[in-house]
Amino acid sequence: MIDPSPLGRAWLAPRLSLFFALLLFAGQSLQAGPGQHAVASAHPLATEAGEEILAAGGNAFDAAVAITAALGVVEPQGSGLGGGGFFLLHRSDDAHSVMVDAREMAPAAAHPDLYRDADGEVIPGLSLDGPLAAAIPGMPAALEHLATHYGRLSLEESLAPGIRLAEDGFPVDATFLQMAGFRLPALHDGADAARVFLRGGDLPEEGESIAQPDLAATLRQLADRGRAGFYRGEIAQRLVEGVRAAGGIWTLEDLADYELVEREPVVLHYHGARIVSASPPSSGGVAIGQMLNILAAGGDGHGDDEAQRVHLLVEAMRRAYRDRALYLGDPDHVDIPVARLLSGDYASRLRADIDPDRATPSSALPLDADAVPGPEAPAADRESAQTTHFSVMDAAGNRVAATITLNYPFGSGFMPPGTGVLLNNEMDDFAARPGEPNAYGLIGFEANAIHPRRRPLSSMSPTFVETEDRIAVLGTPGGSRIITMVLQGILAILDGADAEEVVRSRRFHHQYLPDEIEYETTALDPRVQVELARRGHTLSPQLSPFGDMQAIIWDRAHDRLEAASDPRGNGSAVVFTPAPGR
Ligand code: DON
Repeated sequence: MIDPSPLGRAWLAPRLSLFFALLLFAGQSLQAGPGQHAVASAHPLATEAGEEILAAGGNAFDAAVAITAALGVVEPQGSGLGGGGFFLLHRSDDAHSVMVDAREMAPAAAHPDLYRDADGEVIPGLSLDGPLAAAIPGMPAALEHLATHYGRLSLEESLAPGIRLAEDGFPVDATFLQMAGFRLPALHDGADAARVFLRGGDLPEEGESIAQPDLAATLRQLADRGRAGFYRGEIAQRLVEGVRAAGGIWTLEDLADYELVEREPVVLHYHGARIVSASPPSSGGVAIGQMLNILAAGGDGHGDDEAQRVHLLVEAMRRAYRDRALYLGDPDHVDIPVARLLSGDYASRLRADIDPDRATPSSALPLDADAVPGPEAPAADRESAQTTHFSVMDAAGNRVAATITLNYPFGSGFMPPGTGVLLNNEMDDFAARPGEPNAYGLIGFEANAIHPRRRPLSSMSPTFVETEDRIAVLGTPGGSRIITMVLQGILAILDGADAEEVVRSRRFHHQYLPDEIEYETTALDPRVQVELARRGHTLSPQLSPFGDMQAIIWDRAHDRLEAASDPRGNGSAVVFTPAPGR
């Protein structure tokens, strides 16, 4: 036998194994999907709906339809047909990532003074309770869009679990009761909402079953006729009649003209990771990008000093939320300087302005010359059991991160008679007056003023984190805190945390105004608190937990798929192997 190389076998053997290792690695990186399905949502019955549709041969997009419909039924305080949201999609076949923007739109009769009295003062409650607070829902359009453009199953098949839950009823849990208690006055105001969710005007018992036959019928219309089943015809008629009879301003044209938009997500790069997140009208992706850029601009230099790390993050948060207030709004109507906000130069300038030893008072960061910040909103209104997030990945690697909402718990509390559809109060996400804080204490100016057919600025931030080894799908509810929670989730993932650790991790937040660090009581240890106070920060510990994060991580290097649901909530997560042939 001829020796294969003048250098002999000793040379060839290790090189051959290197060759095979490389082949194996190439095979791995070509592998488009995890071979298993994963779902994480804020309610076990919604997770089961997703599981059912995946097991029936649906893909992640069909599962998203099923989970969305089910959440709207069993977690009516969080989301529903009468609301909207953002669906971040990744299709593995062609590596196509897109954001389906199903954000609500202001009705055509809306205007900047809608919630102000003759003196220009904002009338309390008007943008929160009742039909005047409701914008035109995007959710029914999203369900049809996902099913027809991305799903494998019919809309009817994917809506079936939700319809069943609406017909058969779901057991009331403690979170439902807590939120319904909080919104009792608004729920009382409308006969239909009270009839569906209350018992003799009072809260139902825990465990009692709530069936929603009207909602089941509306979902059926959607299943049979697609979006026309909601935005036109009999349901549209009832929605508009109900809204107008109770003082709202919707018209049939508003419904017929609702526009769902596919948008390019914001794509960020940080320490070798690719981060894909929500683009305007969400402020999430841009703000996360600004904060990551500020961190990267200084080489992150905090070493192992926890107080310094928190200080730096807080200063980055403060600056990103200042810019959120000034520049962000509906991209179809406002020129948002996204490239400038996300430029390295700008981040370096902001970073250079951060004093490593002192908090920058928010009052020292200029706002628009005319802007007078209003009074601070009470933080107590920023609960997390409103709005909801789910994450799903199928065996082929298709994935969805979706954050969906009615805004407040049970939205506006108003349900147009005979529809079963609880309407959102997303109009409160606009700036009702320049500098006036909304329910989450967020301020805004002309970029987020109320105008006909505009989308209110959002904080919802469904996100993908992609590194060489791992793909993560995550998001959370939590009003203005969503963005900083997702930021902390991203940083945890990049530090190597697994899905459980990511959803469990303690959270803190700063949003420019109020000028204070809000934190879960266990998030900052006493020494760090002292250090932060010494730097001039105002500390605001919060008794209620932050968020309800749902995360999936596919570790490609170790061929492992994980899903986790935040222990702060009642959700559930599953990973399972498809039956052969599915
Ligand atoms: O779009 C937004 O930013 C808000 N409407 C989300 C509200 C929310 O997350 C409430 N949850 N705690």
